[in-house]
Amino acid sequence: MKHTISLAALVALVPAYVTAQAAEYAQCGGINYSGPTTCVSPYVCTYSNPYYSQCLPGTSSSSSSHSTTTTSSSSSHSTTTSSSTSKSSGTSTSTSSSASSTFTPPAGNPFLGKNALPNPFYTAEIQAAIPLISDANTAKAAAVVETIPTFFWIDQVAKVPTLDTTLAAAAAAGSNNLVEIVIYDLPNRDCHAKASNGEFQISDNGVANYENYIDQIVAVIKKYPTVTVVAVIEPDSLANLVTNLSDPNCSAAETAYKQCITYAIQQLSTVGVIQYLDAGHAGWLGWPANLQPAATLFGQILQSAGTPNTVRGLATNVANYNSYQTNSPDPCTQGDPNYDELLYITALAPLLQSANFPAHFIVDQGRSGQQNLRQQWGDWCNIKGAGFGIRPTTNTNSSFVDSIVWVKPGGECDGTSNSSAPRYDSTCSLSDADQPSPQAGAWFQEYFQTLVQKANPPLI
Ligand SMILES: *[C@@H]1O[C@H](CO)[C@@H](O)[C@H](O)[C@H]1NC(C)=O
Ligand SMILES: *[C@@H]1O[C@H](CO)[C@@H](O)[C@H](O)[C@H]1NC(C)=O
Ligand SMILES: *[C@@H]1O[C@H](CO)[C@@H](O)[C@H](O)[C@H]1NC(C)=O
Ligand SMILES: *[C@@H]1O[C@H](CO)[C@@H](O)[C@H](O)[C@H]1NC(C)=O
Ligand SMILES: *[C@@H]1O[C@H](CO)[C@@H](O)[C@H](O)[C@H]1NC(C)=O
Repeated sequence: MKHTISLAALVALVPAYVTAQAAEYAQCGGINYSGPTTCVSPYVCTYSNPYYSQCLPGTSSSSSSHSTTTTSSSSSHSTTTSSSTSKSSGTSTSTSSSASSTFTPPAGNPFLGKNALPNPFYTAEIQAAIPLISDANTAKAAAVVETIPTFFWIDQVAKVPTLDTTLAAAAAAGSNNLVEIVIYDLPNRDCHAKASNGEFQISDNGVANYENYIDQIVAVIKKYPTVTVVAVIEPDSLANLVTNLSDPNCSAAETAYKQCITYAIQQLSTVGVIQYLDAGHAGWLGWPANLQPAATLFGQILQSAGTPNTVRGLATNVANYNSYQTNSPDPCTQGDPNYDELLYITALAPLLQSANFPAHFIVDQGRSGQQNLRQQWGDWCNIKGAGFGIRPTTNTNSSFVDSIVWVKPGGECDGTSNSSAPRYDSTCSLSDADQPSPQAGAWFQEYFQTLVQKANPPLI
């Protein structure tokens, strides 16, 4: 990536007469952004990338400083933001202690009999998006998305306090709730692409920073023993180690990825987090030549973590667009006998069992409602014309699949199409990518509206 994001919490210094404040989770800064740059209490304007700062709960810790200037084009004042170095409260507990007896992972499918909750971070994004939709039916359908359980991506240390508020709400709402999260902050993240490069660098204390990120998450989860937490572990990372070690950026990250993922598994296990390691998708590890190397790597990682029974299996199709099961393969899948997720899973399962890895799966269908959209199966960035897919369900027609889930919150962007911007990946300006698109993670309103309109099954 082209710049180092420190992810300091940035406190906007604005003149006292400026009273407007951005709402919870709203945008509060970024190049050419002209709205309010402070947030309603207790939210803090937090730097995400040069194009996007967002109101997140509380303050966040930082190890280095970062500053940026937000220039308004619609008024004459300019606002300089500077970093805050305050420590977030409640996250400094050491978590390297031994397993807590209060956490007993459920045997069997963790989704059965549990109430998976929508993710409040995404709900707030949708609530901000709905007033911008002019078509009444689309707005009504968009409101349905708020009710659907979707994973919360902890893609920056600055989002750990939001996990705390999410778990507190889940604990207060009853005893049978399940919260879904994605662990996604490896050093040198996204080694084979650029759009989702993250905040930590291996060359700049990245492994230690990652372990601290995990420690903070574990400390928060420890406070809520009545909530079941399901986590997807590090999308794309192990899949890149299976197929992309010829990319020097991936071979350089291999040791750190393995060390960090092993640490994450071990520490999350101490607080009973049910884990699914990310396993790419049918068009990646599902090619016959990749199945055995993948099963072998997953088996090795699990063994290196001490084979905790909290690792339940694998997550597939995360943030991708593949069918769960189809009788009419998308033309872009040609050549792969495993042209849908269920075929991939069914082919991989026996190899996993031989590698002493549990053959249980969850499958993302959040953006898989429409097919035949891609020029190449490997295209992944904001695929044009995509629609929300099958709703989360444990009726999966497969004893290998615990649940269909929505991991990717549809509407959060995959990457920028601006070729001069930081983290630009040319995949995001291919002809099948929706453009112009903002930075990865930023809200992409037009894309969200299309997902709603093209939802299959329909939302209303
Ligand atoms: C490796 O990463 C650096 C930094 O993001 C990037 O400039 C370079 O193009 C990448 N190398 C390859 C082969 O993609
Ligand atoms: C910012 O505004 C300037 C002037 O209107 C424009 O040229 C530039 O493209 C804008 N940048 C972004 C990132 O929108
Ligand atoms: C990385 O993996 C993808 C998916 O298998 C593949 O298409 C691509 O060719 C790989 N790149 C390298 C450099 O190995
Ligand atoms: C399971 O099979 C039934 C009957 O073919 C089908 O209606 C249903 O959509 C399938 N469920 C999923 C999740 O594919
Ligand atoms: C693209 O990014 C460059 C570099 O950050 C910026 O100067 C330019 O205004 C951006 N263009 C658009 C159309 O957003």
